[in-house]
This record gives sequence, structure tokens and C-alpha cells, in this order.
Amino acid sequence: KEITVFAPATVANVSCGFDVLGFAIDGIGDTMTLKKVSEKGITIIAIEGADLSLETKKNVAGVAGLAMLEALNADFGFEISIKKGIPLGSGIGGSAASAAAVVFGINQFLDEPLSLQELAYFGMKGEAVASGNEHADNVAPSLFGGFTLIPGYDPFEVISLPVPSELYVTIIHPHIEIKTKEAREILPKYVSLKDAITQSGNLAGLISGLYTDNYELISRSVRDVLIEPHRKQLLPHFDSVKELALTNGALAFGISGSGPSMFALCRGELKALELEQHLTQFYQRKGLEID
Ligand code: HSE
Repeated sequence: KEITVFAPATVANVSCGFDVLGFAIDGIGDTMTLKKVSEKGITIIAIEGADLSLETKKNVAGVAGLAMLEALNADFGFEISIKKGIPLGSGIGGSAASAAAVVFGINQFLDEPLSLQELAYFGMKGEAVASGNEHADNVAPSLFGGFTLIPGYDPFEVISLPVPSELYVTIIHPHIEIKTKEAREILPKYVSLKDAITQSGNLAGLISGLYTDNYELISRSVRDVLIEPHRKQLLPHFDSVKELALTNGALAFGISGSGPSMFALCRGELKALELEQHLTQFYQRKGLEID
């Protein structure tokens, strides 16, 4: 018996929630087929759509799956084949989606012994292979869908947040590669009290806005005084494209995860589609490839 699972791409941080907030994106993601076998461990049979290691311990899905099997004391294993629908290093949770897919798939096979929160924990172990640090702000929304908040890592907890029905996102993916590890290394170790207060106010404002369908509050809250000022230098024309998005109806604009993808939140599908056109034309004029 085999099963095939799909894990969606995600936007981590959402500007004001570095390492603690994220949401899933409709329609794009990784697909994985799993087969239970008597041989212990995870054997990666094939990876389509990306040049990635088939070696279990060097692969996010391999490491996440192994962590889960070990915790369950499993005396069996899985063969997996991965179809990457998310470009590598694009900033929309490509590695997290593979980690989410493997733990979700194994759980399905075993009649769901673990909760989604526990799966996110094991998924995070895999994600660390790619980014050099354990954070679950991509893997949690990939598993739960919608918006998720991680109020704490120790003990590890995931809270599913409501998604206002008219909230849409436009993602712009410039064809440059940014490694999460490197995008983390350029961040300062310390921040000012003033900026910490602004950022926590924004995170609280966004969460409140999600619960109350308050688009205006969401718009004012999705801002980042801690991370974006350092990372935007990795993204060509970031300030201009942000201004273009905000003057063309976006509620908010920011870096998706560690980039290079950027996200624009919009109220209504039409606005999101219109904005996609504006942003695409902007990059075309600059001669940069995007999708
Ligand atoms: N929170 C993470 C970061 C997401 O911004 O570094 C990318 O893995």
C-alpha cells in the first residue's frame, strides 16, 4: 500500500512574527508518496523537481521522518519519493513542506498516533538541516493550514489562528537564491527596547486583527522593524517594489521568510490579481525574472 500526500508552501514571519508566525498558501507545494517497508528508517527513492541529496541524513524529509520513527520506536520504515513543487531557496517554505509531508504521511499510515502539534515538532527537526536552526514557522502552517502562531518553543506549542475570509496573498518570486542560513547570519544578536516594543505591538495587533476581521488593523500591524531593515539589502529594488505594492492597494508588503520571495496581503482576490500584474510589470521593466 502507498499513500500520496500534499504539503503546501508557506509564508513565515509575516513581517512582525519572526520565527513564530506563518501562513499556508493555496495551490503550490510538495507532493510525496510513501510506502511502508519492513526495513527500518527512511529510504529516499527519488526526488523530482530539485537537485537534492537522496541521503536520508542530509535531506529534510529524511531527518524529520527518522526523528518521528525513532520517537515511535518503529520497527519498520518507509520508502519515499518526493515531487518538489516549490523552488529551492525561494523563501516559501520548500524544505518545510517536504518535512511536513513526511511526518503527516507517516502519521496517516499509522492511524494518526500523533497530533498536528507533535508532527510540527518532528518536522522542525528536519527543517533544521536546511536552515541550521530549529524553527517551525513554515512547517506548522504547512501542517495546520491557515495562520499559525508558535507562542513558545520550550515547551513547543502551535496555535491555529483564524483567517479573515477576504484575505488574499500575492507572492512575487525573483529568480535569485537566498540561503536561510546566510539570511540569519546577517541579523543582529541584540535589538533595541524601542524596536522590541514596536514589534511586539505589531504582532499583537495582527493577531487581534485576524480574530476580529479588522483589515485596517492587519494593514497597520504587518510591519517589521527588526528583520526587514537588514534583509532587504539581499533583495533587488525592495523599497521601490514595496512602495508600488502599498500604493496599489496592498494591505501590507514584506519579505516571505528569509526571502527572496515577497508577499503582499490584499483584501479580495481581484486586488491580489491586479497587484500581481503591477509587480510583474515592475520587474519586467527592470529586466529581472520573476514568477
Ligand atoms: N523564520 C525563518 C527566518 C523562516 O526568517 O529565518 C525561514 O526559514
